[in-house]
Amino acid sequence: MKILAIDTSCDDTSIAIVEKKNNQIKVISSVVSSQIQIHAPYGGVYPMLAKRAHQKNLVPVLTKALKKAKLLNPLPKKSDAIRSDRSILHQAEIHKILEKDEVLRTLTINFLNTYQNPNQKNTLTKKIKVDAIAITNTPGLEPCLWQGINFAKALSLYWNVPLIPVNHIKAHLAANFLQKISCNFQFPISNFQNLYPAIGLVASGGHTELIYMPKQGTYKIIGSTRDDAAGECFDKTARILGLPYPGGPSLASQAKLKMKNEKLKIELPRPMINSKDFDFSFSGLKTAVLYNFQSQKKSAQKSKDYKIAMAKEIQQAIIDVLISKTLKASEQFKVKSIVTGGGVMANKELRKQFKFKIKNLKLKIPFFVPKKSLCIDNAVMVGVKALFSNQKVSHSSKAWQNIQASGNLDI
Ligand code: KG4
Ligand code: ZN
Repeated sequence: MKILAIDTSCDDTSIAIVEKKNNQIKVISSVVSSQIQIHAPYGGVYPMLAKRAHQKNLVPVLTKALKKAKLLNPLPKKSDAIRSDRSILHQAEIHKILEKDEVLRTLTINFLNTYQNPNQKNTLTKKIKVDAIAITNTPGLEPCLWQGINFAKALSLYWNVPLIPVNHIKAHLAANFLQKISCNFQFPISNFQNLYPAIGLVASGGHTELIYMPKQGTYKIIGSTRDDAAGECFDKTARILGLPYPGGPSLASQAKLKMKNEKLKIELPRPMINSKDFDFSFSGLKTAVLYNFQSQKKSAQKSKDYKIAMAKEIQQAIIDVLISKTLKASEQFKVKSIVTGGGVMANKELRKQFKFKIKNLKLKIPFFVPKKSLCIDNAVMVGVKALFSNQKVSHSSKAWQNIQASGNLDI
């Protein structure tokens, strides 16, 4: 089964093609168009700018992903007759689907008129096949989600392939099906059932969720952030310190630097680390950073040592809370594995300390973390999640019409 996957849930336009064959998952191509430059001046994602960028990026990203996968063949010049036939195919419906998105509509129709229908037999060029299109429909920024959904619907209609709606949070966890696991365990896909019950931690710019998975495909949220997400805390505190967006990587690279005055130490709170539940709260940490910053003289605020000391402590405070809550949940639910994902899990120090803590616990269970490029938003994870889904929706069905963007997390 070969899947074309699309994710536009936040500020990255991502498209990937993944395939499952003989119990192996293969990434055929993956293209991510980052919008960091656009949002950097705002210190966070600006939804309407992100939406506009998706409109412009979707077709170029799709073209690149299909070319990389050798799935795109321009029509030979002499087949103009086929081209003009096809230019009529579903054009009115596609127009309607992309009615409100003029830029995306024009680009999509041009694209479809330029390249062959991959599923159509008897064209002059090589036949190619995608079995389904996976699309993130929840959670995320609604205007952004809609761009991906409408684009996926237009392609689904034109290529006559079903859609598979995918939950972005479940996709972050599914990225783990792609690679080897830490703690010296190795599990081929056929053995993944042995890893349940499992605890999942998704820590990203929009979410901090602890999820109990009694078996594969079953999810129960046992803890969430009550205010800011872990990634949001990295982003906002970096901004206070005058470090560039996104804050996670900026703070992580500051934290690695050596200080002139090694004795300089800042102490920040670890919010809710000892609470009885599995919820998180990071806005207090952000406020503590702000107060500390405001209490410094201007010269101290700008000093290199102050920024390094702050970065070390912010990173460590977030690491301590994430690890402590996840391990507590793992013990309480007596799980057989810990599965993680989301942009914050790209943090090198967090990955290292998670592995170290698990190794030194009585709890000898495998700890999964995707490689860094699969922790931050990407469409590969959406395709992988779809490979395990049996929710294929054909465009002749009502369910297809009803695929909608939903900003809120509903697992
Ligand atoms: O999963 P993601 O790419 O997008 C969302 O679904 O939100 O996560 C983005 C978040 C940002 O807040 C970013 O600062 C954070 O992940 N992030 C990191 C690192 N790389 C990205 N946080 C800490 N350390 C990193 N190395
Ligand atoms: Zn994400």
